[in-house]
Amino acid sequence: MISKTMQDAINNQINEELYSSYLYLAMAAHFDAENLSGFAHWMKVQAEEERAHAMKFYGYLYDRGGSVAFKAIAQPPAKFKSPIDVFKQVLDHEMKITKSITKLYELAVKEKDYPSQILLQWFINEQVEEEKNDTEIINQLSMLGESPVSLMMMDRRLAERK
Ligand code: FEO
Repeated sequence: MISKTMQDAINNQINEELYSSYLYLAMAAHFDAENLSGFAHWMKVQAEEERAHAMKFYGYLYDRGGSVAFKAIAQPPAKFKSPIDVFKQVLDHEMKITKSITKLYELAVKEKDYPSQILLQWFINEQVEEEKNDTEIINQLSMLGESPVSLMMMDRRLAERK
């Protein structure tokens, strides 16, 4: 059975993941308003991934005899700057999430909670992937610049995300 400390920490992480989903949905809405439907699509896929992350923790808590306790989800920003600024904001956010996953892992080590360590290794790998993808998009946006033609090219590329 999972400890109360670990359960509380995972419940906090569920809130972080749901906030991430909300944040990326707010970014999607911003891009839809700007007629950048490929950028918006990318953010909607990301928002779904974050919800799936929350659900992975949710399922895990019940697998371990724990339970979920939901908290209020913070309001995401409504105003955003240029596409490259938005992706820099995504990367900053993911770096914060990486830190909170790392802290969870450290707690699991301290508690000798091996199943949680195994679950969190999946999340550690996922964070490597997410930071890599965000950095790649930022680099491409900074190489291409933000002329209408460049943004259209990026919009097409981001529309392809599965
Ligand atoms: Fe759930 Fe973007 O990490």
